[in-house]
Amino acid sequence: MKTKIAGIGKYLPKRVVTNQELTTYMDTTNEWIIERTGIEERRYAEKHKETPTTMAAAAARIAIERAGITPEDIDFIIFATLSPDYYFPGCGVLLQRELGLTKTEIGALDIRNQCTGFVYGMSVADQFIKTGMYKNILLVGSEMHSMGLDFSDEGRAVTVIFGDGAGAVVLQPTDKENQGILNTVLHSDGTHAEELAMINPGSHGGYHLGPEKFGYPDPSIPGGVFVTQKMVDDNMLTPNMTGQLVFKNAVVKFPEVIKEGLAKAGLEKEDIDLLVPHQANLRISQFVQKVMGLPDEKVVNNIQKYGNTTAASIPIALCEAYEDGRIKEGDLVCLAAFGSGFTWGSVLVRW
Ligand code: COA
Repeated sequence: MKTKIAGIGKYLPKRVVTNQELTTYMDTTNEWIIERTGIEERRYAEKHKETPTTMAAAAARIAIERAGITPEDIDFIIFATLSPDYYFPGCGVLLQRELGLTKTEIGALDIRNQCTGFVYGMSVADQFIKTGMYKNILLVGSEMHSMGLDFSDEGRAVTVIFGDGAGAVVLQPTDKENQGILNTVLHSDGTHAEELAMINPGSHGGYHLGPEKFGYPDPSIPGGVFVTQKMVDDNMLTPNMTGQLVFKNAVVKFPEVIKEGLAKAGLEKEDIDLLVPHQANLRISQFVQKVMGLPDEKVVNNIQKYGNTTAASIPIALCEAYEDGRIKEGDLVCLAAFGSGFTWGSVLVRW
């Protein structure tokens, strides 16, 4: 028994935010953003009306319909996001509620692997399907970065890259010989955990980086302090990224993990019909394409329109390729991701 993608959907919020618009908030230019990242515009969700959960639900409804099932058939939810509605509980149960799923005999799992979240989710779902535990798994990646970005000059290197959106798949068992997930490969290395991170608010209490930086300790309080005044005053509640370190690691790890998956399956890079890389930066994807020696028509790039949507970027790009008729039955599709953690991974699937 293997795992197939039975249905796929995506949701992009309506509001288009161009590079030009960003220049009105911070010291940046359209030319700088395009040259370094390839991004021309991104989408922002509607504040107070949309959340990662509502966007996920919109994508999920399409995936469920395309799978030919009803929401009540879903027996397990996996939700990957780094920008959840709440610190806890996770978005899995919120999506269950949003979709109106009343039965409680289902599980809801939240994945926190950032840009690699969807690939990790595929791997987890694959194991559950192969063991026969679940038959209709809903896996979503959804992000609302616009709520947590720093729109001052200080945050410009991070803020210009990210956008909002959601993608979803329904995964089911298949016994067809030429269909389904061939393998998944997962990696992690916590050495550089803080180099692409949103550290605060959190329960670290200054442990990893020293308490002074964060305004600890406060002896008058018996427990810890989740958010300190210093964090607010010193603008420490937004993501940070050491861009060049991330770039250098990404261009090595992407090809490595793709080749690892191919080798495990006894396949060559020429066998790939479509590569769907996590949309981190167009320059990274172009570099990977070159190293892998793949022609343009075999690589999906849509970061130009949507920016980097982290856990949502692979299902959005995969869905777009599917809707554009770029995937046919039996095609070998490779998904690959690298991101915060660092974590990276790949999925090889016969459509
Ligand atoms: N607009 C204009 N200038 C900007 C800017 C912006 N949005 N952001 C940074 N700069 C400036 C910097 O301040 C710096 O100025 P200085 O030379 O006067 O100090 C200059 O541009 C170069 O900065 P640097 O950080 O060296 O740029 P870079 O070439 O590394 O590009 C990234 C920055 C972030 C685009 C690039 O490092 C990158 O894409 N890294 C990978 C990021 C990524 O993929 N993240 C997601 C991983 S899942």
